[in-house]
Amino acid sequence: MVAGRSLYQQHCSNCHQDDGKGLAKLVPPLHQSDYLKVLKPDDLACQIKYGLSGTIYVNGEMYRQPMPSNPRLTPLEIAEIVTYVRNTWGNEPGLYEVKKAEKAIQNCN
Ligand code: HEC
Repeated sequence: MVAGRSLYQQHCSNCHQDDGKGLAKLVPPLHQSDYLKVLKPDDLACQIKYGLSGTIYVNGEMYRQPMPSNPRLTPLEIAEIVTYVRNTWGNEPGLYEVKKAEKAIQNCN
């Protein structure tokens, strides 16, 4: 959690903000995001690694700016960020394990 928080601040909070509320119509919120609530942790790991583009809807708002990839993050760092994000905003307490992140990242589509 602690490592995940500092990685979040390094790699995500520029856009999603420290409080996870996003940036107006450009960057969707993580805080109370209906999208994040149903997003599987494996898919979140892929999204962090490879980015996301295309149109998505979060809490009824449309977003279509691309989110950048993070090719240099290791499976451990990604697992830490996933754990932090899910425990903070996904209402999913618990650890997301490195082994799962490794496997997920190999199978991203
Ligand atoms: C340059 C700005 C930027 C950065 C940095 C960024 N994102 Fe995003 N993020 C976006 C945008 C824009 C979208 C919407 C993408 C789309 O519309 O396809 C998004 C979508 C998301 C979503 C799904 C929608 C939601 O709000 O629930 C999650 C989860 C997410 N980002 C998490 C992260 C995490 C974790 C990091 C750090 C590893 C991160 N983002 C870094 C801009 C960013």
